[in-house]
Amino acid sequence: MKILITGGAGFIGSHIAEHYTQKGAEVFIFDNLSRAQYTLKKGTVRDYNWNYLENYPSIARIPGDIRDFEALEAAAQGVEIIFNCAAQTQINASIADPIEDISTNIMGTFNILELARRLPQKPIIIHCSTSRIYGINVNRLKSIEDGDILRFADNSVKNGISEDFPLDGHGHTPFGVSKLAADIYMQEYAHLYGLKIGVFRLSTVYGPRQFGLEEQGWIARLLLDTLLGRPAALYGAGTQTRDPLFVTDMIAAFEAFIESEIHQGVFNLGGGMNNLLSPLRLLEILTEKTGARSAPNFHPPQPYDPKIYYADISKARKLLNWKPSISIDQGLNLMIEWVNENKNLFS
Ligand SMILES: NC(=O)c1ccc[n+]([C@@H]2O[C@H](COP(=O)([O-])OP(=O)(O)OC[C@H]3O[C@@H](n4cnc5c(N)ncnc54)[C@H](O)[C@@H]3O)[C@@H](O)[C@H]2O)c1
Repeated sequence: MKILITGGAGFIGSHIAEHYTQKGAEVFIFDNLSRAQYTLKKGTVRDYNWNYLENYPSIARIPGDIRDFEALEAAAQGVEIIFNCAAQTQINASIADPIEDISTNIMGTFNILELARRLPQKPIIIHCSTSRIYGINVNRLKSIEDGDILRFADNSVKNGISEDFPLDGHGHTPFGVSKLAADIYMQEYAHLYGLKIGVFRLSTVYGPRQFGLEEQGWIARLLLDTLLGRPAALYGAGTQTRDPLFVTDMIAAFEAFIESEIHQGVFNLGGGMNNLLSPLRLLEILTEKTGARSAPNFHPPQPYDPKIYYADISKARKLLNWKPSISIDQGLNLMIEWVNENKNLFS
């Protein structure tokens, strides 16, 4: 099997690359290494996952930009599956420079679709979408406090946010809008041109080899803050609640779709209602687990941060026969183990 992973040097893409190469696939990763500009400046961290994948002879690393159709076309010859993990992922950057955001998240994604339409083998596409396409519509729902986390109090979302939750309105940020356009384009191409496409709306995915930033990868960021004894920046009350999904569970859902008879589908993925977590709760758990402590440093709430989001995963459960298998407790242990083994990267 031959697969192409755009954004393959990123957190999610590099895990997909490792998974498929271990299964015997020929893997091509295609990445412009732009994430590095947001990551720690020193040492090997900047291009860590790109360099890490060099250990696998069956992974070819192609430097390239998804906005460059010819480069993408050259990389995609003969591939049976394309995982689209390349994106501009920073919300504030999308507000500061929406054109840059649109060019990757819309035009770059469009290139992938157009390429897949033209390729004779019609590759399957797995697209990484995001819960941010729902904007802050979720903030209109009532929630109740349960210790340091929030739960929806509204009966209409008692199992979480489902795929038909309203998308209209403002509060998406340019990032949410560009990802929404890409999400719908994916659905449209599947419908119009008969491509097999799975659109997966992710919220908080976490795991080893994640280099967290303030805006993305908050679990990895707070873990590092704790282990390094740095103050942790929290926004608002720090009770913003999510349902983190361990990265290998996410890959299992992708794989279930690829192997299924389902031709096209949109799926909200998350770690399930037994795995809800907020930044405040996470800091407590990390101190219990590691004995280290990070003092929260509170900032005003961020205007476009959903107060609460967790996915209704019943569609993926039913159609893909999938469920998350790694609890927050197990997932955090794996991350802590990885950071402890790689402390030299962060010192
Ligand atoms: N990690 C999460 O919790 C999460 C949550 C929701 C959605 N997602 C989505 O999953 C996807 C992967 O996320 P991630 O966490 O691995 O992010 P990441 O930033 O680690 O990886 C994205 C990769 O894409 C590359 N890239 C960016 N622009 C590119 C371009 N124009 N051409 C080629 N490569 C480019 C970056 O260099 C980076 O390596 C993104 O679409 C993101 O929006 C992730």
